Amino acid sequence: MRPGPEVPSPAPDPQSAFDVRFDADARSFAATGDETLVAAAARAGIEMPTSCRNGTCRTCMCRVRSGRVAYRIQWPGLLPEEKEEGWILPCIAYARSDLVLEAPRRR
Ligand code: FES
Repeated sequence: MRPGPEVPSPAPDPQSAFDVRFDADARSFAATGDETLVAAAARAGIEMPTSCRNGTCRTCMCRVRSGRVAYRIQWPGLLPEEKEEGWILPCIAYARSDLVLEAPRRR
């Protein structure tokens, strides 16, 4: 089992900026350390599937191919196995490195 993409430091770092891209197409956006991935994508005109935006409904769930994130809440709504498989909740996740994401499922 490989470790998941979550890092233990939840404190946002507003000084950092990271490149986030989707593996299936050419879409990419910049994410600062103090904005969620959903908010950063929206700022770039990229809409990600969302509903609750607080880490409980799992509508936004997508998988990280490479990179690290931290969460703004202590217990995001993911199983330990899902975290190990690279699943994240981008509505509450902050980039902590450049990221490659699987494109979210379209509903
Ligand atoms: S939008 Fe509900 S968990 Fe992300």
